[in-house]
Amino acid sequence: MSSLKWWESAVIYQIYPRSFNDSNSDGIGDLQGITERLDYISGLGVDAIWISPFFKSPQKDFGYDVSDYCDINPDYGSLDDFDALIAKAHNLGLKVMIDIVPAHCSDQHPWFEESRQSRDNPKADWFHWVDPNDDGTVPTNWLSFFGGAAWSWEPRRQQYYLHNFLSSQPNLNHANDEVRTALTDVARFWFDRGVDGFRLDAVHTINGDIPPYKNNLAKDDFVLGVLPQQQQPFFRQLHDTGQLNQPNIQKFSEAFREVADSYDGDKFLMGELHGDDPVLASRTFTQEGRLHATYNFNLLEWAGLDVNGLKEAISSAIDAFNGTGRLTFAFSNHDVPRSGTRQLDALGLDISQQEAMQLLLLKLEISLIGSTCIYQGEELALSDVRDIPLHKMQDPWGIEFAPTFLGRDTCRTPMVWRADQPNGGFSNANETWLPVAEAHLSRAGLDEAEKDASVYNQMAAFLKWRKSQPAMMSANQMSALSGDDSQIIFDRISDTQTLRCCFDFKTLTASFEEI
Ligand code: BGC
Repeated sequence: MSSLKWWESAVIYQIYPRSFNDSNSDGIGDLQGITERLDYISGLGVDAIWISPFFKSPQKDFGYDVSDYCDINPDYGSLDDFDALIAKAHNLGLKVMIDIVPAHCSDQHPWFEESRQSRDNPKADWFHWVDPNDDGTVPTNWLSFFGGAAWSWEPRRQQYYLHNFLSSQPNLNHANDEVRTALTDVARFWFDRGVDGFRLDAVHTINGDIPPYKNNLAKDDFVLGVLPQQQQPFFRQLHDTGQLNQPNIQKFSEAFREVADSYDGDKFLMGELHGDDPVLASRTFTQEGRLHATYNFNLLEWAGLDVNGLKEAISSAIDAFNGTGRLTFAFSNHDVPRSGTRQLDALGLDISQQEAMQLLLLKLEISLIGSTCIYQGEELALSDVRDIPLHKMQDPWGIEFAPTFLGRDTCRTPMVWRADQPNGGFSNANETWLPVAEAHLSRAGLDEAEKDASVYNQMAAFLKWRKSQPAMMSANQMSALSGDDSQIIFDRISDTQTLRCCFDFKTLTASFEEI
C-alpha cells in the first residue's frame, strides 16, 4: 500500500545500551544483551531501532563523548557483537540506526590529545582554539548546556578551547575540511557494516564558522522554563546569531547526505536539533540535499502545560512540515523525565492512570505525520525514577545541580525483564550501574509481553492495525487540530481514506473513525 519511504512513517524504538540488557553480568547493558531482546522489540511491531552511542568512550557523558568512532567500548562488547546484532535485526525486518556524535568528541580522542599539545601540530586546527581576551577572560559569553562557560583553558597552547557540553567534550572545528572528511569516513565505516541510518547528535551545536566569534545576545522575553534544565543561565541567551545553528554547518549536512545517497536502500539521516527558532532550523537542515528529517523537541518539552499547550506544540511543528515525512516526534528519550509521569504531574492526575496516559501518548505521537521515536520502557509505561540517592547518581549534569535538577538518571535506570529474577532480569551482577527501580518490577518487559491487556500488547495491536490504514501509511497529510480543552482531534488524509483521530485526555482514551 505504501508509497512512502520506510523512514517517512517509521516507528523507531530507542535503546539506551547501558541500561537495556546485561549479557555478561557486569552490571552494564551491552550489545549481546540487545541482540537477546530483539524478538521482544520486533514483537511490538516497530520498524527500526536506534541505539544510543556504544563507541569507545571514557563514558563521562555515557557515550556522547567518543574516543574512537569506529570501535566498540569494551563495556558493550565487540564489532563482532555488533555484526551479530545487525544480522539478527535485519532477519527480523528491523532497520538499525546508530547515533553519531559529529559536533564534539572526547578529550581522550587521539585527535584532541594531539591538538592540545601545541599550536603547530598536524591536528592543531581540528578544534576551536582561541586566544584569551587582553584581560585573560574567555573569548565570548557562550555558556555550556551543562553549566558554566563553554570555554576551557589549555596551558600548553595558552588558549581556550570550545565545548558546548562538558569540558571533556571539545567541539570539533567543522571549518576544517579534514574534520569533515574524517567524519564522513566514519559514516562510510558504519554504512559498510550495514546500518540503515543515523541519528545525528546535537547537530545545531556543530561549530564551523571562523572567528571573530560573536557574543550571544540576551533573550528579552526570557521566562523560566517548565523543565528544570531550562532554568539554567544557558536558556537566558539567544544562540542562533552566535554559538548555535551557524550557517557553515550545512556543509556538514550536505556532505553526510552525499555519503548516504551513495548507498542503496534509502539510508536515513535524522538530525537532533534545536534553536531560537526550531522550525526555521529544521527547515534549513532539511532543505534539498541535506538531512532527511529532524528530531523535534516540541513534545519532549511538553510538561506542565494544559492540553491546549500540547495542541500548540504539535501544530507549530505540523504547520511547517505537513505533507512531508521530514519530522520525527518523541515524547521521551534518555535526556528528559519519562513522559507518562511527566504528563500525570502536569495534568494533576493520579499514578493509577499512568498506563492509560502512556498508551494515549504513544497512540497520539504515532498517529502524527512523519516518524516517531519511542524510548525503551514507554511500551511498559515505566515511571520516572526520582529517588536515586545522590551517591548513586551517575549523570554529571544531575550531580552538579541536584536536588533542584536531578539530571537524566531518572529516565536511564535499567530495564526490567522478569519480576522474579535478580535485578529484574536486567543483570546477574551484584550491583548495576544505576539501581533497578523497585516500582518498575510489576511491569517487567518479558512478563508484560505475555499478558494480553498489557500496554506492550495494546501498543502492538495498535501498530498492527495502523499498518492497514492507508491514511497513516501511504501519505503524510493531516488536518489542523481541533477539540475542546481536553481533546485533540485531527484527520489523517490519503487519496483513499480519511481517518478521524480523537485523543481524549479526560477519559484517557483514543478513538479512530473512517469518515
Ligand atoms: C544527547 C545528550 C548528550 C548531548 C551531548 C544530546 O543531545 O542526546 O545525551 O549529553 O547531546 O552530546
